Order: sequence, then structure tokens, then C-alpha cells
Amino acid sequence: RSSIARLVLPAVVVCGGCQGPQSALSPAGEGAEQIAALFWAMAIGAGMIWLIVIGLAVYVLRIAPYPHDTRSSRQWVIGGGVVVPTLLLTILLMFGLAILPALVRPAPGGSLHVEAVGVRWWWRIIYPTPDGGSFELANEVRLPAGEPVQFDLRSADVIHGFWIPSLGGKVDMIPGRQTRLTLWPTTVGTYRGVCAEYCGASHAKMAFDVVVMPRAEFDTWLRQQAQDAVDPSGSEARRGSEVFLKSGCGACHSVRGTPADGSIAPDLTHLGSRRSLAAGSLENSPDNLRRWITDPQSIKPMAVMPGFHTLSDADLASLIAYLQGLE
Ligand code: CUA
Repeated sequence: RSSIARLVLPAVVVCGGCQGPQSALSPAGEGAEQIAALFWAMAIGAGMIWLIVIGLAVYVLRIAPYPHDTRSSRQWVIGGGVVVPTLLLTILLMFGLAILPALVRPAPGGSLHVEAVGVRWWWRIIYPTPDGGSFELANEVRLPAGEPVQFDLRSADVIHGFWIPSLGGKVDMIPGRQTRLTLWPTTVGTYRGVCAEYCGASHAKMAFDVVVMPRAEFDTWLRQQAQDAVDPSGSEARRGSEVFLKSGCGACHSVRGTPADGSIAPDLTHLGSRRSLAAGSLENSPDNLRRWITDPQSIKPMAVMPGFHTLSDADLASLIAYLQGLE
């Protein structure tokens, strides 16, 4: 039984990567479809080359009469070692070159432009508003289905890699430069973006949520996110807004429409509406928010955010009520 398990387990592990919100092999966008097709072509081509080479090796070592006659040996070497692999690799190269233009195709004029800045270890996301302005959020990207979007990519510190495997290829974010990526999401759903360049201690904790939604829903979301924060409702949340300012949170974080206007940390204006906390590390819930505020280092090693473990339980509860109410 254990030998069967040994055979099955690697297959399960390998195929586990084929599904889910972060898989290049379950594409939900045009670029990702091309990449998945290329992957399968490469896998099948490589499998064929492996079978041919191993088949010939087995033939020579176990089946062919010995001693080998020199002329037929030379034919096997030229045929199996040069002609067949060259043919197969040329076919794969042509296939790869044929789909390349589709991957680097620029977004047509008038497409949605989203700016993304990689920061150790989170994502600053900037959307344009219909009136020509812009607003900022963090660690969440929402896109209308069936329309191209151009990402303008920058880095605030070191090289990061912007990658939404389900939607398309990855592009590096390089300090001092602006790079671009066009995506063509086709399927409504929730996906996961990740940082694809090692960037320090919490590289693995640098993810973001990607929600592809119908155009009308997207417009509603964009209008709502562009607005300033709503005033806290209820005495607990109102008290929390005072704790927020008194504790100095506003020196680093912004909550639009309030005195909190810090710019070095994620914008929290609509934190309550976000799917996750700490750049995709935790589900957005009051308990997780408490964990994050009191001991961020245990969740994201070397994060800039200090732990506020000195807050009283009452202050902490009010603060959480206020932040979760920012929808
Ligand atoms: Cu940013 Cu790895």
C-alpha cells in the first residue's frame, strides 16, 4: 500500500496546483490562457523527448545486439540525438513565438489604467476616478470582466514581481522605473495575486486579492471606494476613531476625510470592505484585526508596523469597531 501512496502522493501534490484562485493552469484571462496552452505544449513536447531518449537508451543497453555495428550506431545517434530533438524543439519554439504577440499586446486607448506600487510587504493600488482625480487603496484590485486593463507598475524600495497567475504573466516592479502589464480578465471570480520576486523576510506574505466583477458592480464599487470615509456610527466606533488618532495611527495611515493623512502605510479609508488584512495574510475579521494590531511581527516578520500591545482591551475593542466600520 505504501508504494501506491508513494506514486499517488506526488501526483496529488502536482495536480493540487492546477486548480484554485492562484493557478496559472486554471486561466480566467486571455494572457493566462496562452500561458496555460504553452505550458501544456511544453510539457507534452518534453515528455515526448524524454520517452524517445530513454526508449533509445533502453534499446541500446538491453535489446540491441552487442557488439554494435558502427554504421547503425551512428544512425541512431544522429536520428535520436539530433534530428528528432531538433524537430520537436523547433516546433515548440514556433508555438511559443506564435503566442508571444498576444502576451505583450498593449491595452487599447481609453482602457482602465491602474497604478500598483510594490512596497515591502504590501501593495499600494491607485485608481483613477471618472472626474480625472484618483484615489488609493491597498492590497486589493477589482476589475471589470471582459475589458482590458493596463497596470503601471512601480516599486518603492526593492524589486518586486507583480503576478496574478489566473489572469496572465508576471512583470517585475523595478525601483526608479515604470513597467507595464496589460491583462484581459474574462471570467468573474476572486483570484489571488502574489509577489514573484524574493524581496526580504516577508516576501511570502506579500499577496493581494483580485476580484473580477461585472461592469455595473465594478462601477458601484469604484464610486464607493472613491468617497471619503463615512463618519463612525455608534458610540463604540466613535470612541475608536479617537483611539485611532490618539495612538498616532494617522501618522502612517490615511483615512480620507479625517485628520489621519499618513502616507507611508496602507490607506485604511475603506478597510472594512476589504477581503483580507496584512496583504492577503489574514481573512478580514475582528479577531484577526486584533491579532494584527497587537502583534504584527508574529504574522509578518520585520513588518514596519509596530505592535500596539499596550492598548487596553476597551480601547482595542473600540478601535476594531471603528476600523471594521470603515466600509
Ligand atoms: Cu515583494 Cu517579494
